[in-house]
Amino acid sequence: MAEVSQRPWEAAYSKGVGIVERPAFLTYLAAEMMKRETLKSVLDIGCAAGRNSVFLAREGFDVVGIEPQSTILEVARSKVSDEGAKPRLLLGDLVDLPFKESSFDAVLCLYVLMFLPVVKLATCVRNIFQVLRDSGMAFFAFYSPEDASFEMGECLHENTIRWDRRMGPWAGIEAHYFTHEEILHLFNTVEILSLHLVTQRETHDGVPHVHRFWQVICRKDSTTCTPVKERTG
Ligand SMILES: C[S@@+](CC[C@H](N)C(=O)[O-])C[C@H]1O[C@@H](n2cnc3c(N)ncnc32)[C@H](O)[C@@H]1O
Repeated sequence: MAEVSQRPWEAAYSKGVGIVERPAFLTYLAAEMMKRETLKSVLDIGCAAGRNSVFLAREGFDVVGIEPQSTILEVARSKVSDEGAKPRLLLGDLVDLPFKESSFDAVLCLYVLMFLPVVKLATCVRNIFQVLRDSGMAFFAFYSPEDASFEMGECLHENTIRWDRRMGPWAGIEAHYFTHEEILHLFNTVEILSLHLVTQRETHDGVPHVHRFWQVICRKDSTTCTPVKERTG
């Protein structure tokens, strides 16, 4: 298990708090791109309550969703109906992925890397591309420091904060916010097909929020996929 405070995730999800039912915007795009390229098997890392895994299974993909927290996994399993296509939902951690090399055509890792200790990021990205087959696609989303939530916590180190009570049920979680340069460094061994900073306006409890998050789409290219170096600090 990654050395990161996971308790607020468990506490909130097991009470049904903070669960978003609709898939992430990038999941719709991923489904379109994967269909176009006839990619079939997908690993959804950090699937939480399963919104993306369930959607992709219904769209006809063979989906495995992994989640390190058994309580959260139970919530996801309870949401999978007996009818229709289902994802396989398993206990698993990105730090030590329980799959053989080249097991999947595609990987989805949305809003997960930002909750890992920065020193583990390079290893985790390497793990992801190991289980992805050559020419497979990987989809990532994580916040930029321009996101409204960047102000809602105590700074622990550069661009990493611990969310405070203004983040409601997520207070106590350590979150890292990515810069453009950091993303280029992190994915410097794979082909970046697209890298976008998305702006989304939402209202939480009557308060307007501007979300600013990165959407990154990569392709594993066997000729360039060599390990990246760990960052320290
Ligand atoms: C913000 S939620 C995102 C959930 C989902 N990907 C989505 O888009 O709805 C972050 C999830 O990442 C999971 N997570 C945290 N550390 C992880 C790790 N090392 N490996 C896999 N999942 C992890 C948490 O348990 C939590 O369920």
